[in-house]
Amino acid sequence: MKIGIPRETTSEERRVAVVPRTVERLRKMGFDVLVETGAGAQADCSDAKYLEAGGTICDTATDVYAQADVVLKVNPPTSSEIALISRGAILLSLIWPASNEELVAELAARGVTTIAMDCVPRISRAQKLDVLSALANIAGYRAIIEAANRFGRFFSGQMTAAGRVEPAKVLVIGGGVAGLAAMTTARGLGAIVRGFDTRLAVKEQVESLGADFLVLDFEESGEGEGGYAKVMSEAFLEAEMKLFAEQAFEVDIIITTAMIPGRDAPVLITSGMVETMKEGSVIVDLAAERGGNCALTEKGKIVEHHGVSIIGYTDLPARMPALSSRLYGNALAAMLDELGGAESLTIDLDNEIVRGSLITHDAAVTWPPPKPEEPSIAPDYSKDFGKRPEPADEATSPAASKRMIEGLSTIVGCIAVVLLLLVIGLWAPASFATHFTVFVLACFVGWQVVWSVSPALHTPLMSVTNAISGIIILGGLLHLSAGSTLGAVVLGAIAVFFATINIAGGFMVTRRMLAMFRR
Ligand code: NAI
Repeated sequence: MKIGIPRETTSEERRVAVVPRTVERLRKMGFDVLVETGAGAQADCSDAKYLEAGGTICDTATDVYAQADVVLKVNPPTSSEIALISRGAILLSLIWPASNEELVAELAARGVTTIAMDCVPRISRAQKLDVLSALANIAGYRAIIEAANRFGRFFSGQMTAAGRVEPAKVLVIGGGVAGLAAMTTARGLGAIVRGFDTRLAVKEQVESLGADFLVLDFEESGEGEGGYAKVMSEAFLEAEMKLFAEQAFEVDIIITTAMIPGRDAPVLITSGMVETMKEGSVIVDLAAERGGNCALTEKGKIVEHHGVSIIGYTDLPARMPALSSRLYGNALAAMLDELGGAESLTIDLDNEIVRGSLITHDAAVTWPPPKPEEPSIAPDYSKDFGKRPEPADEATSPAASKRMIEGLSTIVGCIAVVLLLLVIGLWAPASFATHFTVFVLACFVGWQVVWSVSPALHTPLMSVTNAISGIIILGGLLHLSAGSTLGAVVLGAIAVFFATINIAGGFMVTRRMLAMFRR
């Protein structure tokens, strides 16, 4: 089975669908890989490297398309590219079907099976195929690099012989993938970072990166369906913008990433706010593609306003083509694996990842995919002779019988222990009976304590019992105070010393372990 990798024809595109390292992986999966000459030239991937990795170089795009059973692309194909794809071939690419209806219809008419990498469902099993997160992560990082490039100062504060340089203050609006990546990068460069998001769930993540989360005194949750953001009320947006207006006076750099899927970006930074920013400040608007979060943003351009640069680049991942291509190619390889690899490549409509990202198949448009069926909460009794059964009798339910057996075995165990103590009391010396009773009771209490504690807390429990076992210190103290012989005093001192380490260490470990469970 042959995979084709044509050169990307979109203007200014520097990425390639697959880098040589991924070609090796595809070869191991059993595919032959055809690459158009120069396809990876701008992503540091020369033809020679593709050849070394086991690929075949073709002179023209037509050669690649004509032979390929599977075409791998970054950008949606143009009409002339679609005309080159063989009928019945499979295309894996970014498609953006919601805004590319005509293209989807053309692909269906051509009989191409299309998998849109931008439509991979966001479920945990599909994480390695999630190109949007991978690209947004790069965009967030690159946004800070672009800002640093325009900004005339260090990010970190410095005390130099020539004077003090205060640290840069960065505000990141939106704590999704791109926003968090921007915060991490800005913190790494030593800036003071503040973050804001309508979803309070993001607060902990922001703080764990060492940034301050700005809290708005407003009762409205930004949490929408499935953990995605929802459209906020006018009143909320107003309150939020008041907060940004205050921040604009203080901060040097603003990165905006506020977006709600399928909507235009909300305008959160007005031209008035820009005018209050210090000269030399920078705004990077990652939502530029969707109209921008800043009123002055121009898509793909840098605008200068009152000494403030507003960067509206929409190709931030493509500005790091080698890395973007590598991560994108990994996701493509994972998708091919999901489809069954070279040996058994099939479109399995029962596979939720495949079905979710399938756009056209069998000459028909298959997007959007059907909504997954809601699991019915109440069981369906309609088949059971048309009659809803009575709830199971409490006393005869399996749980009740289990409880009864457990109770009986405890009683039997107690009787056995009492009998054993009786026998020992009759035959053994009095001192032995006392010690033995304490021993049995200790076993019982210990067992009850361990049994009633959740397994996750067993380690702190052990460390605390360890600390308590430092009771040995009492023996040591008794020896020390009695001081009958030098040997006894020395032994007592050693016992006290080690028991102290045991007690202090036990409590320290317990504290640390419990801190891990505290929210
Ligand atoms: P995401 O959906 O994970 O994050 C967006 C965040 O904005 C969410 O956490 C949401 O709660 C928050 N948000 C929504 N409305 C808000 C409001 N009114 N105030 C504050 N926060 C709000 O998206 P992701 O992946 O982080 O991408 C962020 C943006 O970056 C998107 O617009 C995406 O299209 C864009 N992007 C831009 C690229 C470029 O080259 N310029 C490349 C990749 C992504």
